[in-house]
Amino acid sequence: MTPDPLRSAASAAAPSLPSGNPYALTVRKLEIDLSAGFDRHWHGGDAFLSQYLNALSMSFPVGEQSFIDAVRDCAKLLPRTPATAALHDAIAQFIGQEATHRHIHGLYNAQLEKQGLVNRWQHWATARIDYATKRGVGPRHFLAVTAAYEHLTAVLADHMLRHGDALGQADPKMQTLWRWHAAEETEHRAVAYDLYQALGGNHAWRIRWYAYALLLFCVDSGRQTALNLWRDGSLFKPATWWSATKYFWGKHGVVWHCTAPLLAYFRRDFHPDQEAVTAPGQQTSAIAQRWLKEHDESFRVVR
Ligand SMILES: [Fe+2]
Ligand SMILES: [Fe+2]
Repeated sequence: MTPDPLRSAASAAAPSLPSGNPYALTVRKLEIDLSAGFDRHWHGGDAFLSQYLNALSMSFPVGEQSFIDAVRDCAKLLPRTPATAALHDAIAQFIGQEATHRHIHGLYNAQLEKQGLVNRWQHWATARIDYATKRGVGPRHFLAVTAAYEHLTAVLADHMLRHGDALGQADPKMQTLWRWHAAEETEHRAVAYDLYQALGGNHAWRIRWYAYALLLFCVDSGRQTALNLWRDGSLFKPATWWSATKYFWGKHGVVWHCTAPLLAYFRRDFHPDQEAVTAPGQQTSAIAQRWLKEHDESFRVVR
């Protein structure tokens, strides 16, 4: 990895942001109690789906802290003007949302540890972040990686929110946790990207870091899920592999649902808030807001 070639371009760039506040983010504290734990196969008895989502949860505390750090470091480079006020506000709310996600997934992961699972993903991620920091990789590169993961998470969140069967049989408190997280990922999906663009972010580096993030996500989620299934004794059961096949290639499979929106990030005119044309009320943002409204007893608004 090389030092930050974005710096000179960014310092010369004049932020160009939408007028008004296009974000309107809310920080919410989820009111669920994980202290009593949950079943090993909390996802309707399905070993693969439980351990795959457990693997994702394992990545969040370290991953989301690095997103917070990247956005906070780069926010210091964005001048405070009337034109950037909405983005600065959104950044503060983004940090609040990701901090609550980190906290709740920390509690979740403590239960996984009690179940005998071992979180390796956090160490892989920490080692890479430390390596990049020691090599002097600049904050805008970390921000490009953050924007990349934010798009990936938003696409997966869309799949989760849109297809009820993705969580339909799961423990109700785990459904609430995952849908709350998915809804907030949808709400704040543009913040890191808009900050990157406002700082004059370089298109080629945005694409390079996205390809890197996609590859790493596939490798890390695959190996952590396999490790979880192995420790769980489910790795070599046919039902596990059948469930994985359906998750990726079934009727509402991730491959069919997510490939086009994931590839859209490579377009030069991409923006995270662009959505495929759907019937009114069926945009992901509308589905997320509807879920938050219908489940407002599940959380407390912090700010
Ligand atoms: Fe998050
Ligand atoms: Fe996020």
